[in-house]
Amino acid sequence: MEEMAKITIGDETFELPVIVGTEGERAIDIQSLRKRTGLITYDPGFNNTGSCKSAITFMDGENGVLRYRGIPVEQLAEKSTFVETAYLLINGRLPEQKELTRFSVLLNDHSMVHEDMRTFFENFPRGAHPMGILSAMVNALRFFYPQLEGLSETEELDIIVTRLISKVRTMAAMSYKISLGHKVVYPKPDLCYCANFLNMMFDSPVKPYNLDPDFIRALNVLWILHGDHEQNCSTSAVRLVGSARVNLYASISAGISALWGRLHGGANQAVIRMMEEIHAAGGDVKPFVARARDKNDNFRLMGFGHSVYKTYDPRAKIIKKMADTVQAKLDKSDPLLDIARELEEVALKDPYFIDHNLYPNVDFYSGIVMRAMGIPTEMFTVMFAIGRLPGWIAQWKECFDSPRWKLSRPRQIYIGNNVRDYTPIEARTKTML
Ligand code: ACO
Repeated sequence: MEEMAKITIGDETFELPVIVGTEGERAIDIQSLRKRTGLITYDPGFNNTGSCKSAITFMDGENGVLRYRGIPVEQLAEKSTFVETAYLLINGRLPEQKELTRFSVLLNDHSMVHEDMRTFFENFPRGAHPMGILSAMVNALRFFYPQLEGLSETEELDIIVTRLISKVRTMAAMSYKISLGHKVVYPKPDLCYCANFLNMMFDSPVKPYNLDPDFIRALNVLWILHGDHEQNCSTSAVRLVGSARVNLYASISAGISALWGRLHGGANQAVIRMMEEIHAAGGDVKPFVARARDKNDNFRLMGFGHSVYKTYDPRAKIIKKMADTVQAKLDKSDPLLDIARELEEVALKDPYFIDHNLYPNVDFYSGIVMRAMGIPTEMFTVMFAIGRLPGWIAQWKECFDSPRWKLSRPRQIYIGNNVRDYTPIEARTKTML
């Protein structure tokens, strides 16, 4: 029998259905609440609101669990590739060999970027943040690749999906090369997705880039771990913008903008800036931990804490191990890795961090790994965006495939002025404004 929740307002009681997910999560379905009671629910930041039913990603913040389509990320990080995981997220199951080959071929076929787009890249002001550039360019893709004639919406979507996954990687490397004033390196059909990215970033006519299998593997793992994270800020942005029935490029562009923020994906850049500051100040982490606890200081320990995880982020555990592997490849160890380790040790013993359940999140060690690969700090959030793209697409597609994709439209509790008359400018005093 369906479980019901009871809500009493004044002397009236209303019953609302309780819905249960496949992992036993429960929610009160309040869709009929306003119609029946005149009331809405109040949940700033939507931290306690289920905005959709989704079959893509499961996370359990209390126990540090993360699964894509039911498969633990630990298994995917160990055994899968980024391309295969992207297929899994978007299509709901692991591909058979011929499906994976077809997907890889399509990614290759769509990897080039329209030459006219280079003019755009070249005309952004020097120092423009790569996330702003990426968001603008992804939106612009719609004009360079307009609607295809004679294809059904679903057939066209297939092409847009591979186009996006492939071109975003090419555009990211291209914008880096252009920012340096270097010659753009084109994608090579004989290289896999991750190797191609590293090659486009670092190869040059005067200094050929040696592809290191450990770096290629590390990049696969890094992007697998960023693949999806259910209804986070940028994913919710993709769903919300998409709910107005704007095209996929524009929805993804909105996701990139949301991810840019330092409380979200931008934290990976902020973590490294913080560690550089600690290093420049002599390397003592304790004053920084003290600042993070001080309520009169708005400094936060970047890379710590998470809206859902109240324990160690399972992705951070894997990335921490990977940091050791990639560091071992370097001639000189990165002093920021020692700072990160010490910071973690001190914070995890600190009563404030213990009481607030603050643990390292995905961004805490990812910057160290990317630095070891030679990725510049201002590109870190772009790296996150490339990894998150399959998740955003899967989430958008889940909405697109649903017969009941509603226009997102939260409500509010108005706390402004009550009705008042317009005052002519000559009669206004400051207190009236
Ligand atoms: N350092 C110090 N204190 C913190 C931190 C932190 N990193 N994170 C949370 N807190 C404290 C807050 O001050 C607050 O304390 P109070 O209750 O005593 O006032 C309490 O913990 C709860 O903080 P909220 O911001 O309300 O909690 P929320 O769960 O919404 O925060 C967030 C999540 C935004 C990620 C936060 O932990 C944070 O700002 N972390 C640093 C930025 C970061 O690393 N972001 C990346 C997150 S992962 C991702 O998006 C990819």
